[in-house]
Amino acid sequence: LAQVDVDVSQIAEGQSVTARWRGRPVFIRHRTAAEIEEGRGVDPASLPDPVARNENLSPDAPATDENRAAEGAEQWLVMVGVCTHLGCVPLGQSGDYNGWFCPCHGSHYDTAGRIRSGPAPRNMDVPVFEFISESTVRIG
Ligand code: FES
Repeated sequence: LAQVDVDVSQIAEGQSVTARWRGRPVFIRHRTAAEIEEGRGVDPASLPDPVARNENLSPDAPATDENRAAEGAEQWLVMVGVCTHLGCVPLGQSGDYNGWFCPCHGSHYDTAGRIRSGPAPRNMDVPVFEFISESTVRIG
């Protein structure tokens, strides 16, 4: 399907669901205040990949926490759940940065899905998406 609608009303803070979109997993995470704060406390210039990789923004947008999260609803992180190294699916709420850990070769992503250490070259991709209502996100 070109577009997928996901009901996020049942995703409690601190929980995630995985949707399928164009054959790939898409993580939808309802972040906690602590996770957002952690994400905000990072200078994008210091990151291995300083670019947001958010298809809703310009290609050179910096990888701030705000630029990774949903606009105006920063508790929501929507991203393609594919490691940018060789394509494994990272595990949530794990790794050295409390985000995602890819067990294939040891890449650690933070609470905004940005690569922090390991062989992955890029932040996980944020696909085109929008909230079409308070409880529904449309991916694609
Ligand atoms: Fe994720 Fe290699 S595929 S670290």
